[in-house]
Amino acid sequence: MRIYIVYYSTYGHVHKMAEAIAEGVKQVDGAEPVLRRVPETLADEVLGKMGALEAQKMMAGVPVCTVDELKEADAIIFGTPTRFGNMTGQMRQFLDATGKLWAEGALIGKVGSVFASAANQHGGQESTILSFHVTLLHQGMVIVGLPYSFQGQLRIDEMSGGSPYGAFTIAGSKGERMPSENELEAARFQGNHVASIAKKLRG
Ligand SMILES: Cc1cc2nc3c(=O)[nH]c(=O)nc-3n(C[C@H](O)[C@H](O)[C@H](O)COP(=O)(O)O)c2cc1C
Repeated sequence: MRIYIVYYSTYGHVHKMAEAIAEGVKQVDGAEPVLRRVPETLADEVLGKMGALEAQKMMAGVPVCTVDELKEADAIIFGTPTRFGNMTGQMRQFLDATGKLWAEGALIGKVGSVFASAANQHGGQESTILSFHVTLLHQGMVIVGLPYSFQGQLRIDEMSGGSPYGAFTIAGSKGERMPSENELEAARFQGNHVASIAKKLRG
């Protein structure tokens, strides 16, 4: 079983969450995580002005996803930072290139799941995940979130991301906060949960 983790990350927060999702996928017997980035649409000059070039180096070893390879996925877990409460343009552009898969019905019945990152505690993580689900439904995917059996999402003793819609992190307005252990645990749980459900659907 190949579980694709397809993400975009400017400063590395979603990248760190993606690695934790992969760890969770690996916990399921017979499931292999496949990490992929979506193509960057910004020029290096712009990324430099955004202070993102160092973080981009950290992700340079992750192959860029092609639309066609999604056909072989048993499940796809998408990760995106928030842009004004929605997914990034990079992710939108990638999804808009999947029209051929839609026409072929190639993703129908595959598990789809979403995780996210935003600067602020209430900066739009949930709206980003929920609005992402709309595209997955158009593709006929079976949506899986983060059930309350991940008890870490009930915590109030510390600031933490994570919701029944999917794992997320709070990056801070300067990107100064990296995912906490509780948020990484949510990501591992989501990876494990998606892979387990994909396994059941495969029969
Ligand atoms: C154009 C733009 C719009 C953004 N909009 C939001 C927003 O609506 N809410 C929020 O909390 N953070 C917002 N952010 C902050 C990003 O979500 C944050 O940098 C990101 O989650 C960090 O993840 P990454 O390191 O994987 O890129 C925005 C950032 C940019 C550049």
